[in-house]
Order: sequence, then C-alpha cells, then structure tokens
Amino acid sequence: MDFNQNHAIITGGSSGIGKATACLLASQGADITILARNPRQLAAATAEIEAARMHSGQRVLALAVDVAKAKEVMQAVQTATIQIGSPDILITSAGITHPGYFQDISLEVFEQIMAVNYLGSLYAIRAVWPIMVAQQRGHLVLISSGAGLVGLFGYTAYSPSKFALRGLAESLRGELRGTGISLSIVYPPDTNTPQLAAENKIKPPETKKITASAAMLRPEDVAREIVKGMQRGKFVITPGLEMGLLAKWHSVLAPGLQWYFDWIVRK
Ligand SMILES: NC(=O)c1ccc[n+]([C@@H]2O[C@H](COP(=O)([O-])OP(=O)(O)OC[C@H]3O[C@@H](n4cnc5c(N)ncnc54)[C@H](OP(=O)(O)O)[C@@H]3O)[C@@H](O)[C@H]2O)c1
Repeated sequence: MDFNQNHAIITGGSSGIGKATACLLASQGADITILARNPRQLAAATAEIEAARMHSGQRVLALAVDVAKAKEVMQAVQTATIQIGSPDILITSAGITHPGYFQDISLEVFEQIMAVNYLGSLYAIRAVWPIMVAQQRGHLVLISSGAGLVGLFGYTAYSPSKFALRGLAESLRGELRGTGISLSIVYPPDTNTPQLAAENKIKPPETKKITASAAMLRPEDVAREIVKGMQRGKFVITPGLEMGLLAKWHSVLAPGLQWYFDWIVRK
C-alpha cells in the first residue's frame, strides 16, 4: 500500500501516537488533516508534520474540534474534504483517561471518557462513511488499548471505552466486506506520551504496580506498527510482543492474569 497522495484524517493528531502516525504518513507522501481541541498544540504539531513531509506540495490541515460533539466532527470532515479532498484513511487516536478508585471517579468523568474515546471514534467513522462508501475505498483505524483486551484495577472508566471500540470493530468488520473499505483496530501497550505522563500522576499505587512490569514503547514505535499493519491489511494491530500474546490469548490468559494482578495488589 502506497500512501503517496492519500489523504489521512487523524483525530488526536496533535500529540502522542496520533502525531507520530501523522508524521510517518507525511514522510510517505500523504496529505494530513489533524483534529484536536487545543489550537496552540495543533499549530505546533502542524509544523512538525510539515517538516516530516516527503515533498513540499503535500498539504497539512489542522482543525480545532471536540470529537465528543458529532456536529463538529461532521463539519470538520466536510471542511477537510473540500480543502484537501476525500479522505482515504481515518485514524481515531483522540483519547483521554482518568485512572482512580471506582468510588472516587465522578459520573461526569465516566461519561466524558466514553464520549471522547468511544463516541468520538464513532462520530468520525460516521462522518467519513458516505464518502468512503461512494468511492469504494478507505481504511479505518481505531486506536483501542491493551486495556481494551483485559480490564485492569483502576481503569473502570477507561477500560470500558476501549472494550467498546473492540466491540464496534469486531461487529463492523463483517459489514465492510465488498465495500472496498478496510478496518484495523490497534491495541497499544503503555506508550511514552503526554497522556501516560498525566495518568501516572494520579494512578492508584495498585495500578502503578500492575503496569510497572509491562514494556513501554515510544509513540514512533507504535506509529510504525500501525502503518505496517495497514499496509499488510491487518485487522488486529498489536505493537510489541506482550500485546500480540494478549490479543490472541486474552480469554485463555484472563484467569491467570487476574490471579497475578490480585497477588500484586495484595503485596
Ligand atoms: N499512551 C499510552 O500509554 C496509550 C496506551 C494505549 C492506548 N492509548 C490510546 O492512544 C490514543 C492516543 O493517546 P496518546 O497517549 O497519544 O495521548 P495524547 O498524547 O494525550 O494525545 C491525545 C490526543 O487526543 C486529543 N484529544 C483529547 N480529547 C479530545 C477531544 N475531546 N476532542 C478532540 N481531540 C481530543 C488531544 O488533543 P487536545 O487535548 O488538544 O484535544 C491529543 O491530540 C488514545 O486513544 C489513548 O487512549 C494510549
């Protein structure tokens, strides 16, 4: 798969995994639209993505959007389509988290995480859907998490939003047959991004201990796996060995993992 002259729309493209993937696709010739809220961060990311381009004719567009608002997402996709052209790729990387003890997390936080991580991805897919169906071409890439494969202590607000993406991807996959649209779901492990740095400040100690033993990747490593997985037409993309094992064996491993996590928490 060649990305030259493809148009990739990337939610959450101003930071972390989304930005690294935007830079990598730009380095392979793609036009890029990034969607996120903070205009200053969007401007800084635009400069980085422009610097990564293969040639100066490639366009980079940044739009300030809250993905939890369906109308804003629809409007942004329309603007990007008018200014750059029909999207060939959609990557939904916009995401938030808030680890904590269940009783300490407000209902507003539960709702907000679901609204951004799950509904934000759904709105973006619905916005590009008619375009991709009409052109009989497109690639949808949903960024879930290892926490979308197994539930973890402290992630009662985050993990369900990432499970929901898995449910959406597995249900939608079959409906895409014959449409020319392909779909990938990505399960990144802990990745060194601003999100991880922020959550590390508020993680319960039990969650810290459980996640401490896992490998941490760089956003560039995850971006490379995403792009490689898209090129190979993979449905499940698992950066790193641990995620590969978890994605294949999570149901079989679950009782053992739960015993191990409980043992860590007891310690
Ligand atoms: N880092 C990890 O360890 C890890 C592991 C597994 C999965 N993931 C997932 O990977 C994705 C990217 O995470 P990251 O670590 O790269 O995080 P990050 O560096 O914090 O980037 C998150 C991006 O999402 C945007 N965003 C957040 N809320 C938004 C909203 N309501 N509307 C539009 N954009 C919004 C942010 O920009 P604004 O704040 O300006 O809107 C930013 O561009 C997330 O879905 C995350 O859950 C991360």
